[in-house]
Amino acid sequence: MTAQTDERAPGTDADVPLSAALRAGTRADHEDAERSPFVEHLVDGRLPLAGYADLAAQQHAVYRALEAAGDRLVAAGADAGLVFAELERVPAIEADLTHLHGPDWRARVRVLPATAAYVARLEEVGDDLPRYAAHAYTRYLGDLSGGQVLKRMIERHHGLDGDGVRFYDFPQIHKLKPFKDAYRERLDALDLTPAQRADVVEEARLAFRLNRAMFADLGAAHLS
Ligand code: HEM
Repeated sequence: MTAQTDERAPGTDADVPLSAALRAGTRADHEDAERSPFVEHLVDGRLPLAGYADLAAQQHAVYRALEAAGDRLVAAGADAGLVFAELERVPAIEADLTHLHGPDWRARVRVLPATAAYVARLEEVGDDLPRYAAHAYTRYLGDLSGGQVLKRMIERHHGLDGDGVRFYDFPQIHKLKPFKDAYRERLDALDLTPAQRADVVEEARLAFRLNRAMFADLGAAHLS
């Protein structure tokens, strides 16, 4: 690698597919997110069910903003095939919230400050396709990957089976791996300038940090 290449922002090298630039550019952020105490407690069964129920409430706010942005891109004919009906999470989260908090869940949940900041960012940049792509990548590919591990852990530790963990189910996607490959191909087909590619990677890194901040708020509320 030349000195000149080193100086370039991640994601600007046109020879590297965007999906590969995203994976490489967010690898360290992914490790940080996985190591969040809240996530670790969720995985190893030390998180009380109320903590998981609160996570579902935060995710409701996040996915409402993400999916509203996706809907606006579709309505504008500007989604470049990146918005998939089979990924839609809000109805599944609402079913989980009904199961976890009761039918009056709307009156029982609140949005934590870090979640509000995450939602504000989605509302600010979600109409810009490259930045929408960064946020959608961070959440949906995560849900289709590590999310499936989390689902098994939550079911095992809390005796849930279906109800309460619908968020992690993608009934319209029969095989996750080919779907993820197709999603990456759509990312790679985006017609972006080098500067826009760098913005996508930077925005995905921000998306990971926003998730991490949300886990920190959740940890402060639920870990002793
Ligand atoms: C304990 C928690 C987690 C575990 C065990 C985990 C595990 C994994 C694994 C094994 C993959 C690779 C899957 C594959 O190549 O098909 C993956 C990919 C991914 N994860 Fe996670 N993950 C966790 C948390 C998170 C979090 C909190 C986020 C973001 C909010 C996230 C976002 C992603 C993304 C975007 C990918 C796709 C990477 C790529 O191929 O470009 N993960 N995760």
